[in-house]
Amino acid sequence: MTREIRFSIDRDWATAAHGEDGFARAHPISNSWGGWPSAVGIAPYLVLQISVEGTPDDTTGYLVNIQLLDQLLRQTALPATATLLRQSGVNLTGEALMRQLWTTLREKAEWAVVGLQLWTTPYLSYAIQKDRADMIEVTQTFEFSASHRLHVNGMSDEDNRRYFGKCNNLNGHGHNYRVEVTVGRAEMDAAGRVIALPEFEAITKRCVIDVLDHKHLNADVPEFAELNPSVENITMVIWDKLANQFGAAKLRKVRVWETAKTYAEYAGA
Ligand code: NI
Repeated sequence: MTREIRFSIDRDWATAAHGEDGFARAHPISNSWGGWPSAVGIAPYLVLQISVEGTPDDTTGYLVNIQLLDQLLRQTALPATATLLRQSGVNLTGEALMRQLWTTLREKAEWAVVGLQLWTTPYLSYAIQKDRADMIEVTQTFEFSASHRLHVNGMSDEDNRRYFGKCNNLNGHGHNYRVEVTVGRAEMDAAGRVIALPEFEAITKRCVIDVLDHKHLNADVPEFAELNPSVENITMVIWDKLANQFGAAKLRKVRVWETAKTYAEYAGA
């Protein structure tokens, strides 16, 4: 099962609150999003998700009491974040924080921790999985808008209409696509990162967004001249465009949301 906490820590808050019992006190959560500590001034909210596995207790049906899980996460994440912020300031990387949290939580947790994911913005997250714990994965979300027509040349017009329905509309229709690109690496770069974020963004923009954004996929993008631009095929085409583009960081996964209800995901052959 997976549980998440939300919290905000800036360097000043961390410094002021780092007292004897600064982090251990029980604090009521007073906002409906469940975030605590609350931001003081303008500071990011971090979201931390932990995944644990095991067999539920015969009597309670619980694998873990989530209140104990929340307590452990806050008691670990708040001082670790504050300490690293004081040490590194603006040079603190998500990777360094993740490595610290993973090590501490694995030591302290009474349950089998199988994964940890940290969001520093709603569009940027860092993850470690138990089965590949030497690697840190970074996922960024990108967006593009495009039109397409689902149509297979080898099928009759009538069959195309029957199979694809309104998605077969002669002049196409549009979507706002969200693309989640995950890259991973075991040995960090000299600055302690999987990849420099501006580089990550520039490569994805050049290879994917500039090629697909505000285009009619069937007409404007050579890959879809014959290939039906389904979300499945779009995902695999994006994978091909990004594979081997990130240097020492390896492309791990591409997820494409076509609507809020549909996504396709590909992690290579
Ligand atoms: Ni469509």
